[in-house]
Amino acid sequence: MNILITGAKGQLGTELLRQSPDRCFSAFPVDLPEVDITSSDLVRAAIHDAGASLVINCAAYTQVDMAESQDMIAYRVNSLGPAILAHVCSEAKIPLIHISTDFVFDGRQRTPYLETDSVSPISVYGKSKAAGDAAVEKILNRHIILRTAWLYALHGHNFVRTILRLGAERDTVKVVSDQLGCPTCAVDLAETLLALAEAVRTQGEIAWGTYHYCGKGVISWYEFAQAILDIAKPYISLKTSQVDPITTDQYPTPAKRPAYSVLNCEKIQNEFGIYPKPWRESLEKMIYLMLAAS
Ligand SMILES: NC(=O)c1ccc[n+]([C@@H]2O[C@H](COP(=O)([O-])OP(=O)(O)OC[C@H]3O[C@@H](n4cnc5c(N)ncnc54)[C@H](OP(=O)(O)O)[C@@H]3O)[C@@H](O)[C@H]2O)c1
Repeated sequence: MNILITGAKGQLGTELLRQSPDRCFSAFPVDLPEVDITSSDLVRAAIHDAGASLVINCAAYTQVDMAESQDMIAYRVNSLGPAILAHVCSEAKIPLIHISTDFVFDGRQRTPYLETDSVSPISVYGKSKAAGDAAVEKILNRHIILRTAWLYALHGHNFVRTILRLGAERDTVKVVSDQLGCPTCAVDLAETLLALAEAVRTQGEIAWGTYHYCGKGVISWYEFAQAILDIAKPYISLKTSQVDPITTDQYPTPAKRPAYSVLNCEKIQNEFGIYPKPWRESLEKMIYLMLAAS
């Protein structure tokens, strides 16, 4: 089965590409500058050239704070792009798996968000992603929108790499302790996407719609940072031994973030037998890989 992967040079795209051969998929990776998802002509040509029978869209504008001042580009990539992908997939009569985010929710809830909960984003990034999801839902029946959260990978900009760098450079590292969520390893998310692709390949028609997938367990950014340093400590020289907890008010950012970013993942378990992996086990494996690669 040929799969077109858009945004293939990003954190998730890179991991998806790495795993595809193991699952016997032929992956056709595309990214900027060659294939901009906001160009229907380029997307149409890419689907044709790949002979794709499925598109997985990992492309996005992911700079959450920058999006507050760069709303035009955020909306273009995160809303228009998925709309174009859905439209061209509809023309080509192929399904689309599109990745979305916990940032479509406002974080006021205190129980894990269900796929059916109303979205109410509080940032430009979240609004632009929610608009993209809505476009996909409207344009293409055969879609999966997979919402995830707190994503990190071997490569790219992410919290794990940042904390490892800061821990090596600084005596103290302060991290917010009043935002809760579920760290998600790109390795696990890519496995999930390929399991969904396998379901499409073998069954043709599957239970299309919106699903959640994130790491198992709920922690704060502060606890996440402390775990990263604890795991890495025996292997690298760190200046920081203990992370200092602070509140969101003490760390103002241009974009507001949900205080509670926990996604309920029961639907994907029940429908596809895909179970979230415990966040700490996945983090340990990823840190060993990061340290081995450095
Ligand atoms: N990172 C997280 O914590 C997180 C959390 C929840 C959900 N998600 C979602 O997960 C998905 C993957 O995220 P990620 O962290 O892997 O993102 P990423 O590392 O930022 O990768 C996104 C890729 O898309 C490319 N891209 C940007 N604009 C494009 C366009 N117009 N056409 C084609 N490609 C374009 C980027 O290229 P450039 O680098 O050149 O711009 C980059 O290679 C996204 O949908 C994101 O919203 C991420």
